[in-house]
Amino acid sequence: MAKEGISTQYDIKDINLAPQGKQRIEWADREMPVLRLIRERFEAEKPLAGVKIAACAHITTETANLARTIQAGGAEALLIASNPLSTQDDVAASLVADWGIPVMAIKGESTETYMRHVRAALESNPDIIIDDGSDVVATMLKEKKELADSIIGTTEETTTGIVRLKAMEKAGVMSFPAIAVNDAQTKHFFDNRYGTGQSTLDGIIRATNILLAGKNFVVVGYGWCGKGVAMRARGMGANVIVTEIDPIRAIEAVMDGFRVMPMNEAAKIGDFFVTVTGNRHVIDKEHFEIMKDGAIVANSGHFDLELNLEALREMSSEVATRRPFVEEYIGTNNKSVIVLGEGRLINLAAAEGHPASVMDMSFANQALSVEYLVKNKGKLDNTVHVLPKEVDQEIASLKLRAIGINIDTLTPEMIEYMASWETGT
Ligand code: ADE
Repeated sequence: MAKEGISTQYDIKDINLAPQGKQRIEWADREMPVLRLIRERFEAEKPLAGVKIAACAHITTETANLARTIQAGGAEALLIASNPLSTQDDVAASLVADWGIPVMAIKGESTETYMRHVRAALESNPDIIIDDGSDVVATMLKEKKELADSIIGTTEETTTGIVRLKAMEKAGVMSFPAIAVNDAQTKHFFDNRYGTGQSTLDGIIRATNILLAGKNFVVVGYGWCGKGVAMRARGMGANVIVTEIDPIRAIEAVMDGFRVMPMNEAAKIGDFFVTVTGNRHVIDKEHFEIMKDGAIVANSGHFDLELNLEALREMSSEVATRRPFVEEYIGTNNKSVIVLGEGRLINLAAAEGHPASVMDMSFANQALSVEYLVKNKGKLDNTVHVLPKEVDQEIASLKLRAIGINIDTLTPEMIEYMASWETGT
């Protein structure tokens, strides 16, 4: 039976897709040993008993395994999509049919439906919000302020969401603690770099099936995600160009061996462009105007505002769909720009998001952050927190053990040396 407030309703594409979803969820689980260990402990200890959780996430096989973990801990969970294009409909069906977890998410849903699901999540009166991009938390502050004063707290998956949470903290509107999951090293070192690196190229290749070798591949932004995309594009034989606004990151890109130049130069020579900045209109009208005919543009940042598609639409006489997730914007001068995945996260729109092995650590952090919020209910400041360093190290140790890799430990002599100052030249 459902507890008061949690909806037993669901809004998914087709419940009959459940068998395929279950098979894929179980396949992903094989690559998620750390999360599985947490799930087994949660099953025994029930640390989340009676806690209502609204989780806004990309509805993928990996998220399904996080949901199973939270459920094993005794929580009652409701899932909604964190992006209109990222839902795997078979996974949504399986969560409902096989695990009895309500899901409100349909791949390709309109912005109105997306927001209806966000509001339904808030109407369930959760104790904890798991957020991915901070849309649920921001909507709560705007439309359901009373919940903000009574929830235990929230966890946030992304760089973008943490920027928003810190803006809320600065504006003095945060009346609950938040855990910045993305700031754990076992999250952003791996998920943002290796996850985004592989899945972004996977999305571009699945959408276009175009050879990358020998092409000019422009990576816009050299944060952890940009580093991953640049590294993997180079691995496919592309000539990688990086654009940046941060001088330190720009030097890093130079010393990593990439060409670095302003966007108005890169725009003229790029064959592929990928935005990963978290900022708005980083590819703008003036850049589209000087691109080569047939340049391919994609975004792998959280929101779909990195490309100024409104300007591109105004410059175009026709928009033609060439393949799924591939739209050609044909200009009045007969020159075209090709946009992938409507400018939404290409790795989740045209591929399956980050592979399970990196999401294992990201979602171990999510599960442990939820447990941390419950254990420390009423004790944390209403600010943005990071999980204790020992939790990060424990997740890394479990991952190493799971993949069969041993490392050294400090000897007593080393420990003594590191704590001393007397010994020098
Ligand atoms: N974000 C990026 N990849 C993801 C995945 N596979 N599942 C959930 N969230 C993601």
